[in-house]
Amino acid sequence: MKKVLVLHGPNLNLLGEREPEVYGTMTLETIDARLQEGGGRLGLEVNARQSNHEGELIDALHGARAWAQGVVFNPGAYAHTSIALRDAVAAIDLPVIEVHLSNVLAREGFRRRLLIAPACAGQVTGFGWRSYLLALQALAWMLDAGEEGA
Ligand code: DQA
Repeated sequence: MKKVLVLHGPNLNLLGEREPEVYGTMTLETIDARLQEGGGRLGLEVNARQSNHEGELIDALHGARAWAQGVVFNPGAYAHTSIALRDAVAAIDLPVIEVHLSNVLAREGFRRRLLIAPACAGQVTGFGWRSYLLALQALAWMLDAGEEGA
């Protein structure tokens, strides 16, 4: 099984109670369990982590070099502010797919500035918790294509 880091940024530990009209009612624990199941069906072993701290997210990305084949990353609000996280994504030689539960392009103007996105392999935004699942599917395709040399 290929190993994948699913990394959740700030405030995502409050999913379920946090602005449910925007982010849905599912808790992070339930989402992670579904991703483990869904990832398993795709041949991916999902290891999920959440942090509210920019430096810890950077450390998790660096650490993934040692054990993961790819990363699915919801940077939360850091997507719009963090050059350090963008540089961390660019620094590691792993495919990173950026994920957002909400459609950030359809919300406030400040959410349209996506600093990390250009360093990522792609983005999935606006499909609720299933954004993560779609990103896992994309990662599975990418990793298979890499093996086939496609
Ligand atoms: C989010 C979108 C961000 O703009 C916001 O700051 C979040 C959640 C999402 O998953 O929709 O914290 O990343």
